Amino acid sequence: MRIYLPADAAAKALGAEAVAAAVLREAAARGVAVDLIRTGTRGMIWLEPLLEVETDAGRTGFGPLTVAEIPALFDAAFGDHPKALGSVERIPWFAQQTRLTFARCGRIDPLSLAAYEAEGGLTGLRRALAMSDADIVAELTESGLRGRGGAGFPTGIKWETVRKAQAERKYVVCNADEGDSGTFADRMLMEGDPFSLIEGMAIAGLGTGAEKGFVYLRSEYPDAIAVMTRAVEIARAAGLLGGDVLGSGRAFDMEIRAGAGAYVCGEETSLLNSLEGKRGVVRAKPPLPALEGAFGKPTVVNNVISLATVPVIFERGAAHFRDFGLGRSRGTIPLQIAGNVKHGGLFETAFGLPLGAIVNDIGGGTRSGRPVKAVQVGGPLGAYFGPDQFDTPFGYEEFDGQGGLIGHAGLVVFDDMADMGAMARFAMEFCAVESCGKCTPCRIGAVRGVETIDRIRQGDAAAIPLLEDLCETMKDGSLCALGGFTPYPVLSALRLAPEDFAPRKEAAE
Ligand SMILES: Cc1cc2nc3c(=O)[nH]c(=O)nc-3n(C[C@H](O)[C@H](O)[C@H](O)COP(=O)(O)O)c2cc1C
Ligand code: SF4
Repeated sequence: MRIYLPADAAAKALGAEAVAAAVLREAAARGVAVDLIRTGTRGMIWLEPLLEVETDAGRTGFGPLTVAEIPALFDAAFGDHPKALGSVERIPWFAQQTRLTFARCGRIDPLSLAAYEAEGGLTGLRRALAMSDADIVAELTESGLRGRGGAGFPTGIKWETVRKAQAERKYVVCNADEGDSGTFADRMLMEGDPFSLIEGMAIAGLGTGAEKGFVYLRSEYPDAIAVMTRAVEIARAAGLLGGDVLGSGRAFDMEIRAGAGAYVCGEETSLLNSLEGKRGVVRAKPPLPALEGAFGKPTVVNNVISLATVPVIFERGAAHFRDFGLGRSRGTIPLQIAGNVKHGGLFETAFGLPLGAIVNDIGGGTRSGRPVKAVQVGGPLGAYFGPDQFDTPFGYEEFDGQGGLIGHAGLVVFDDMADMGAMARFAMEFCAVESCGKCTPCRIGAVRGVETIDRIRQGDAAAIPLLEDLCETMKDGSLCALGGFTPYPVLSALRLAPEDFAPRKEAAE
């Protein structure tokens, strides 16, 4: 009997290790031969630990499981059970998705290169190996892929700048710092399908002339670090990395570096400083990292999802990817739905779904059952969207037009109990704590912002224009988006719920 159970950190946090041990114990006690394969997660976090059994009709699922429910599962011969979900891939939440980047995640043993290849892995790299560097970059440009780390910069243009740069060494750096609140796509991908990131980085190397890659991975992701480290070793032993990639005579190798944990180290220039062993302070641009990046050499810095999406683009062709989406937002996007929501998890879909459909239809509304008050989209620097903006389609330009951003596509849902004044204060406080200190509008402005919001909340309404003024200064004068975008959550909270900035009658709450 073949059983699949995630070893993803989210599933583990919900008890997957104990369930795995119980399955093996019960199987041994009953003399049942079980082949237990640990996978990544399918992304339906409210169903974890989600166990799947291979049947003639495909994989059927059971979840969320507890240890106490395992004996009954064996009694029922993995059939009729209170936690039976039927075919996992026909669960409507899963079936509605368009899984391109996450196609294998939750299906395969993340460290089995054979399983990776059996499900389409390495097809893209093999195709790229037969192409010139210019053709590789042209194909990527044609796909319309934009950076999934936050800024949405066209990936093809970045690669072309590095490709054209003259230097004896170039680098590919994967940004796996994933600091945005409510986001976990990078972690899920690295724990569930690490070879897709390795393959994407190798294609980036071929396209730009870089022979060395680094994954800058946050230290708070020990499971992802372990899986990625092992995957690189396996890839090297299999000839996928090293001096002769898949026997092509081309070289590409990579290493995993752990960051010490600072939000600003996700900003690409600060990341490069940290990668080089320096303090994580933002560098002034120009020079662009594409021309003077890691160790002063031309460098592609791309997010995990940007790079892990590259193999499927080369496997199926740029047009296949480009056909999905809306306007200038092409392809699919892994939405990460979190906060006060019934069905939290990762939902990969083409750009274009209205925000309200994501929150209410996919997320199922709030877990508390109370009305939605706000959704923060795009991490701690993203704006709060209210239900009056729920018809906004999920796309870079569409969110920008509403005074927001999609960032890394994290959505954090709040019900009507949320105190938006407190959330605005938190945004300023977060900026003050995480500021790298290089520029004044952010370093000093964020501290003044906390003080000004406190004044307003103590009844000094005349300080509201001062707060708005300060936000303008931070927007226009900050060197990077940490100081420059903190006004988004602050001003959107003020727009959405000005009453939350008035003194609170604690006793009445
Ligand atoms: C304060 C701050 C934090 C950031 N954190 C991340 C992060 O955790 N991961 C990420 O990929 N990009 C992050 N970015 C964006 C990066 O600077 C950069 O745009 C990105 O790595 C480029 O890759 P992409 O084009 O593939 O998105 C951050 C930017 C700022 C200003
Ligand atoms: S905006 Fe803040 S984090 Fe960015 S460079 Fe200035 S001080 Fe540093």
